[in-house]
Amino acid sequence: MDTIVITGGNVLHGEVRISGAKNSALPILASTILGGEECVINNVPQVVDVVTMGKLLRLLGAQVEHEGNRAVVRAGVIHSTQAPYELVKTMRASVLVLGPLLARWGEATVSLPGGCAIGSRPVNIHLAGLTKLGAEVSVEHGYIRARSRRLKGALIYCDVPTVTGTENLMMAACLAQGTTTIENAAKEPEIVDLADFLTKRGAKIAGAGSDIITIEGVRELRGSDHEVIPDRIEAGTYLVAGAMTKGAVVVNGCRPDHLEPVLAKLLETGVTIKVEKEAVHLDASKINRLKAVDVRTLPSPGFPTDMQAQMAALMAVAEGTSVITETVFESRFMHVEELRRMGANIRVEGNRLVITGCERLTGAPVMASDLRASAGLILAGLCADGVTEVLRVYHLDRGYERLEEKLQTLGAAIERRKA
Ligand code: EPZ
Repeated sequence: MDTIVITGGNVLHGEVRISGAKNSALPILASTILGGEECVINNVPQVVDVVTMGKLLRLLGAQVEHEGNRAVVRAGVIHSTQAPYELVKTMRASVLVLGPLLARWGEATVSLPGGCAIGSRPVNIHLAGLTKLGAEVSVEHGYIRARSRRLKGALIYCDVPTVTGTENLMMAACLAQGTTTIENAAKEPEIVDLADFLTKRGAKIAGAGSDIITIEGVRELRGSDHEVIPDRIEAGTYLVAGAMTKGAVVVNGCRPDHLEPVLAKLLETGVTIKVEKEAVHLDASKINRLKAVDVRTLPSPGFPTDMQAQMAALMAVAEGTSVITETVFESRFMHVEELRRMGANIRVEGNRLVITGCERLTGAPVMASDLRASAGLILAGLCADGVTEVLRVYHLDRGYERLEEKLQTLGAAIERRKA
């Protein structure tokens, strides 16, 4: 297992280009199952989760070629509708093949994803929605088994605006007979990106990005090409890196309109921000200390839970006391103990973090646990006194493309020590 070693204290300056969004590429790749023609997906990030999705599609029988940031998929004949535990346990998002397999082939057997470091991660809303669409769904021996001759449009209400639940149900509804309405749908930009791709292929979808999505089923979907939207969480992570080191960074090739809650919170800390069409400039070089701000994570358009750990790291060195409330997942505080080892003053009160900022953190060996907690530890290492070693960086490689290279470009003293 590789380790990332950071010598803190460098002020970050310069520009970094944002990669395609992992959480958009994954459902878009899964949706290629909905048709037999070739799909060309561009701006796909070269991260482990995308490689894993490619392996799953090949296991199902699709032809998948990865060339750099391009994936070419042809799901002409699927010879299996099984997503096995061995693969699903390495990536929960494998559950995204459930809806497409069921809609296209009338059956799917997908391992229950199981919990992970940030919570129990149930899929009950996915299954209740597919049942509403007329599928026979059972859960046995750790597997979801779904069967249906042809799905029928239905009215589905999501108890929680689940991102992958909305994506699974939207994909399944594309080939259902009749009209489906998904109420209390998730509104993340990645839902809109998936709907754009499906629409290019002949799907009839209205309302993606709002809490009511209407899908009129069609017989089949054509192939198409698509450019995945930039990763708003990656962009937010590099902006926080600039703020933490009191530098001046530019994130290029991003969608500022997908960053509104993050930019609003960063502005409250006292940094200056300039927004261009596809770039954000952050300058923290002229402020003595960042101001503590309160954050409450919420489904989109609220502050994204995937930026909570990064904000906790930022608040650990801000002036004053901040309260970060995590309302989306029940235990997304794996970064807290590790930040404490670096000298952070953080109290956990239920689903809230009470953080009293300190002048300097101190470098230490810390353990990565999940993708975004690991990013928070890297950020803390950038401004800590001394050396920070982040162990088990395979968590990072799941969702950040060339993280240490991009941070080196910005002037960070960071390197990867191969296991
Ligand atoms: C997606 O996960 C993202 N993953 C997560 O990003 C992200 O943190 C999360 O959305 C929230 O924005 C992908 O898109 C691949 P949810 P997802 O279903 O869809 C509850 C990262 O770091 N829920 O929106 O699994 C659930 O317990 C990852 O890139 C149910 O109760 O999240 C949670 O409390 C981590 N029943 C809440 O909804 C269900 O059937 C939100 O979960 C489904 C979800």
